[in-house]
Amino acid sequence: MKQLTMIVALLFAGIATADDHLDPATKAIYDRSCGFCHTSGAAGAPKTGDAAAWESRMALGMDAMVLSVKNGKGAMPPRGMCMDCTDEQFADLITYMAKAK
Ligand code: HEC
Repeated sequence: MKQLTMIVALLFAGIATADDHLDPATKAIYDRSCGFCHTSGAAGAPKTGDAAAWESRMALGMDAMVLSVKNGKGAMPPRGMCMDCTDEQFADLITYMAKAK
């Protein structure tokens, strides 16, 4: 039983580490769409890596965040300029942006 707990703990550690690094395809989407505004904070966009700027937004939940991107919000165009992104990719991108650097 103890061993099983260890294995589960290791698995979760593995997932947490993998999460820090966006897979290259998703990173490419970030670079060509979201990054355009979210790297510099253009037009009042919450900056990538600025956890404080994201905290109140993330408190609304990931579903609400994904919906915001799909509908567009303020100066952000619908789908954040990624027309072929899936909900899952949006969620990965948002997790990446909202995490402190
Ligand atoms: C043209 C600039 C621009 C692009 C491109 C862009 N954003 Fe944004 N984004 C903004 C701005 C500006 C805001 C702040 C909107 C507001 O609160 O009025 C924002 C806010 C957000 C929010 C918070 C929404 C909320 O309800 O608080 C999320 C999540 C988000 N962007 C994700 C993304 C993702 C994912 C991409 C890429 C697929 C992306 N953005 C591309 C400008 C942009």
